[in-house]
Amino acid sequence: MSQPFPAPQWFDLPRAPAPGTVVAQHDALADACATMVALDTTEGNVFRLLLMRAGPGVHAFVNRCPHFGVPLAARQEQLLQKPGISISCNVHYARFRWSDGLCESGECKGESLISVPLEVHSDGRVCIASDPVDRPPGEL
Ligand code: FES
Repeated sequence: MSQPFPAPQWFDLPRAPAPGTVVAQHDALADACATMVALDTTEGNVFRLLLMRAGPGVHAFVNRCPHFGVPLAARQEQLLQKPGISISCNVHYARFRWSDGLCESGECKGESLISVPLEVHSDGRVCIASDPVDRPPGEL
């Protein structure tokens, strides 16, 4: 299914956190598990991310389904995931690939979750990357 408009970048979304914002401590994230975090932004508003830890690495997606722009899940215990393989939307059950957020089946097949670049620091802080653009490996 083709997408009528380009997907927004994470930093264009309302309440997007600033680069450098701490989102978690690495050792607090279960390996091969998606963890939902709600970042307090301004005036009690929150920005929800899904942190996908794989060993020493962590990548993140905005908790937003490309089908209707709604959260994949409202709470951690509602996340539908096959650890290390896929995560699914609670609304119409579109299934997204763990590694890159591509929708493999469902109403928005071929679209992707919005990726947010992260940096893992030597002290274990997991932060929004200082460079807000998420580039494929090897691309400058
Ligand atoms: S809103 Fe997520 S699959 Fe429809």
